Amino acid sequence: MSYIANEQRYSNMVYNKCGNSGLKLPAISLGLWQNYGENKSLDNMRAMLQRAFDLGITHFDLANNYGPPYGSAEENFGRILNSDLKAYRDELIISTKAGFDMWPGPYGDWGSKKYLVSSLDQSLKRMGLEYVDIYYHHRFDPETPLEETMSALDLIVKQGKALYVGLSNYGAEETKKAAQILKKLGTPCLIHQPSYSMVNRWIEDGLQDVLTEEGIGTIAFWPLAMGLLTDKYLNGIPEDSRAADNSWVKSGITEDKVAKVKLLNEIAKERGQSMAQLAIAWVLRRGLVTSALIGASRVSQIEENVATVNNLHFSDEELARIEDILK
Ligand SMILES: NC(=O)c1ccc[n+]([C@@H]2O[C@H](COP(=O)([O-])OP(=O)(O)OC[C@H]3O[C@@H](n4cnc5c(N)ncnc54)[C@H](OP(=O)(O)O)[C@@H]3O)[C@@H](O)[C@H]2O)c1
Repeated sequence: MSYIANEQRYSNMVYNKCGNSGLKLPAISLGLWQNYGENKSLDNMRAMLQRAFDLGITHFDLANNYGPPYGSAEENFGRILNSDLKAYRDELIISTKAGFDMWPGPYGDWGSKKYLVSSLDQSLKRMGLEYVDIYYHHRFDPETPLEETMSALDLIVKQGKALYVGLSNYGAEETKKAAQILKKLGTPCLIHQPSYSMVNRWIEDGLQDVLTEEGIGTIAFWPLAMGLLTDKYLNGIPEDSRAADNSWVKSGITEDKVAKVKLLNEIAKERGQSMAQLAIAWVLRRGLVTSALIGASRVSQIEENVATVNNLHFSDEELARIEDILK
């Protein structure tokens, strides 16, 4: 059956202005890093993307190498875009990135103009798009002059292949320099995509200040610490979890951390929220983060996570208790 979007899709989601730009992003965006590769069910991907859009999620985040194999998340997203979401293209903010390893040889990794321009051409083909809304450099490249990487981003915008550009995983100093170069080129940096959560607060040591000063939006990835900051691991590691599939994720689910999540979960309950909702609301608490970029393996998680917007306010006392637990 062909998909028709929910008419009420804009009635509950919160939209935040992205830095100094005129673009608004949903407080909760959906990333396709996991669960959109060749090894996953297309029906489930389709159901998740439809439900997300029906709930007001207008922003979908990809990268050239999401899969596995690399490129397959963009291909699967392109399929679903074509079958279901094509009529809504002007209501969508679609991002992709290049910066990590993508193809063999010296031109398929890092930050050269050669890599960034050719990778975006490939991404557009895989998704069946004429342009992306946001194109990111995925990580800082110490060997390529920042001027070259930023002029590649500027070129791509001037060619009409991306509307806006962003940086991901750049440190505070690198971001400041890159933002200044982009400003001079006439293509301001729209957004930065760093990791950020209750258990990963590195952006509070300088990067967030730079982003605020420069008028750059912040979209926080890993707000749920890949599932740790949900009720999923409170009583062991369930079979249908990312940690059961991935030993690196599993190594992050320690007794120590789970004990803290149990305490945080008590605060969530008092607020009438789930643990995941508390973690997402916390990332958004100061009004500095434009959007929390979540992942999900099933529709019910998207529904639960989107319902976070029903309670984004924290009292000073709640924030102090959370700080005590996180110490
Ligand atoms: N720029 C970068 O370098 C970078 C790096 C990583 C990610 N990202 C972006 O960030 C996005 C999110 O990353 P992520 O998926 O790792 O982050 P996350 O939101 O911290 O974790 C998502 C995972 O948590 C579990 N989960 C989500 N909601 C839940 C709920 N309500 N209850 C129980 N479990 C829940 C699911 O795991 P199960 O599979 O166990 O159900 C889900 O796959 C990516 O898709 C990508 O777009 C960017």
